[in-house]
Amino acid sequence: MELSYYERIGRDNLRLLISHFYEAVKVDPVLLPMYPGDLEAAELRLFLFLVQYLGGPSTYSERRGHPRLRMRHVTFPIDENAKEHWLHCMKQAMDQVAMDDESRAFLWSYFTYTANFLKNR
Ligand code: HEM
Repeated sequence: MELSYYERIGRDNLRLLISHFYEAVKVDPVLLPMYPGDLEAAELRLFLFLVQYLGGPSTYSERRGHPRLRMRHVTFPIDENAKEHWLHCMKQAMDQVAMDDESRAFLWSYFTYTANFLKNR
């Protein structure tokens, strides 16, 4: 049986990844002003989303419903520059977390694809 990426990367490592990502967001001059409220709550949402997307428990959808990512991002001005900042923060976070090469390549292509898809300016 094939393991899911959730199992391969591991829940603790995903938690670490998202925590490093938000550490970077906290000092990013383009991204930080876009986040409306509680960064800890935002961090939990992104973590649970990723867990679910990678084949782990579907706690995200139990709490938030269908992800509808594009719709949930329309109120944030995501241009090429904001996209680059987001990906830069995620790259920094990924560099701090150990995982196998295939999982790393899969995650990075998912993030770049989705960040492009979420551009709305
Ligand atoms: C392209 C640049 C991006 C920007 C500037 C951006 C910005 C934001 C902001 C400001 C929020 C609101 C924070 C909150 O939840 O309170 C948010 C939420 C979220 N973002 Fe992004 N985002 C980007 C890309 C992505 C990507 C690539 C993904 C997925 C791989 C993603 C997944 C999410 C999720 C799951 C939420 C929470 C949705 C919810 O349940 O409300 N975002 N994003």
